Amino acid sequence: MQELKLAFIGFGTVGQGFARLLQSKESILIEEHDLKIEVTTIIDKVMGMVVDPGGVDLANVLARVERDGKISNEMEVDSRQMIKDGNFDVLVEVSFTDIETAEPAISFIKAALQSGKHVISTNKGPPALAMKELEGLAKENGVYYRYEGTVLSGTPCLNLSSEAMRGVSIHSIRGILNGTCNYILEEMEQGTGYEQALNTAQELGYAEADPTADVEGFDAATKIVILANKLMNANLRVSDVDRSGIVGLTTDEIKKPDESGFKTKLIASAHRKNEKVNLQVGVNKLTLADPLANVNGVLNAATFSTDTLGDVTVIGPGAGSKATAQSLFSDLLAINDKLTTY
Ligand code: HSE
Repeated sequence: MQELKLAFIGFGTVGQGFARLLQSKESILIEEHDLKIEVTTIIDKVMGMVVDPGGVDLANVLARVERDGKISNEMEVDSRQMIKDGNFDVLVEVSFTDIETAEPAISFIKAALQSGKHVISTNKGPPALAMKELEGLAKENGVYYRYEGTVLSGTPCLNLSSEAMRGVSIHSIRGILNGTCNYILEEMEQGTGYEQALNTAQELGYAEADPTADVEGFDAATKIVILANKLMNANLRVSDVDRSGIVGLTTDEIKKPDESGFKTKLIASAHRKNEKVNLQVGVNKLTLADPLANVNGVLNAATFSTDTLGDVTVIGPGAGSKATAQSLFSDLLAINDKLTTY
């Protein structure tokens, strides 16, 4: 049986969701994948840390977090050093997302890759800013860096295109990549005011810590950069995106679809034109025949326009603890497959 030791950097909603998923799928991992997982390290900047080379008791840690809001009183001294020296095979990088500098996540990922450890991550900053560099570093060190959950959370998207649809040429991508905006726009269609809809989206936990990233289109811009760089061989940055968000829209402008015959959506797109890929994020009016017009609430979707398959659209959850944890689970299993397939 293959054994993999994991270390978590960050133990917020996504980290805790993944810990719960590992617990609930433990027997499936052993019986169907011949894989035994042990978590040896959990480090969280706010909640403390736990290190146990013999395997952390996840049920105990999760119970403590629920009861006391923390893992321990012990705080990490130097996370990068702990990542370098730690006794584990795979870093679960689910630390704080900063889409401007991508730090400290980039440093954590580099420390892991340089010390021969695989990385699975849902952090959007690092692939948006340094995808090629990090993938190069992984290759140099003979390890894997996977980040499926950065776009559409656990709904297959990056790996669907780069692995299941291997060989297709994608000439454009259009997507609903931000659940918060999609939720707000739909609420506004029903007559709810912008502020009230945003407050509810925050209460439901869809929005980023600073919702400006959602409503001004930065989150969607980050995700379309990841898609274009990964799937269309572009080399673009968030500042290259022609971006506008949903701030300032009024309910009057977003008429009910049955009255107006169209739906208002925040669309992120990437189009190849003369060897160049152009990126846009902005409000579009879609006819009801467009598959993206019928993607409602906090759901996300992406349509890939390809040479051999025509249009392929995926629709599914784009946020949430369990759905995002699923992306880490599939990345972990993909790494295990690569390590055990001859
Ligand atoms: N704030 C993001 C959204 C979360 O609303 O889609 C997932 O990246």
